[in-house]
Amino acid sequence: MSRVVVLISGNGSNLQALLSQQQLDQLGGEIVAVISNKADAYGLTRAKAAGISSEVIANADFANRAAFDHALMAAIDRHQPHLVVLAGFMRILTSDFVNHYQNRLLNIHPSLLPSYPGLDTHAKAIANNDENHGCSVHFVTEEVDGGPVVLQARVPVFADDTPDSLAERVQVQEHAIYPLVVRWFNEGRLVMQQGAAFLDGALLPKQGYALE
Ligand code: GAR
Repeated sequence: MSRVVVLISGNGSNLQALLSQQQLDQLGGEIVAVISNKADAYGLTRAKAAGISSEVIANADFANRAAFDHALMAAIDRHQPHLVVLAGFMRILTSDFVNHYQNRLLNIHPSLLPSYPGLDTHAKAIANNDENHGCSVHFVTEEVDGGPVVLQARVPVFADDTPDSLAERVQVQEHAIYPLVVRWFNEGRLVMQQGAAFLDGALLPKQGYALE
């Protein structure tokens, strides 16, 4: 059984989507632990309600990024995961961390990558009068929000959208695509090799597949 550790920083709605699929036996693996870098993350309450072990490793308790990442790696590795899932984990990770989990580290990002890496993606899509916006699940590499994309989902941007209304529309799609990608990985259908992602043996297109 594929063992999954989920890292969060906040609300944990993506964690919830993963937990719900696990409860329906649709995740192809098991979330064995949830780790947050914030003690007040609501996602910790969700983990507890689902009976999943959870832990706080607060970045504020460490002198620098390297020390925090090493403590985080130690906490994760105690669970011997096959896959580490970043679900609204709002810290940039060191190369040491990224290399340690190479080929088994996934992230969800609220934009149609390669558009809008980084923060404030919804405000940027509105400011640029984009017709479409969305979210991407990708493997994590040393380039921030730059690893191979596995799956994207698109939403329309409406004239009266605010960053919050747009975020809400995007999140509905996040909750659909993340569990699917995690399941593909857990079932051995999705692999990353030498910097490229493959699904069922086929090289994924540059921007991943689109959820239709
Ligand atoms: C999600 O929208 C996710 O795409 C975003 O944070 C939100 C977390 O929501 N992630 C990033 O911006 C990563 N740079 P959640 O805590 O409810 O899952």
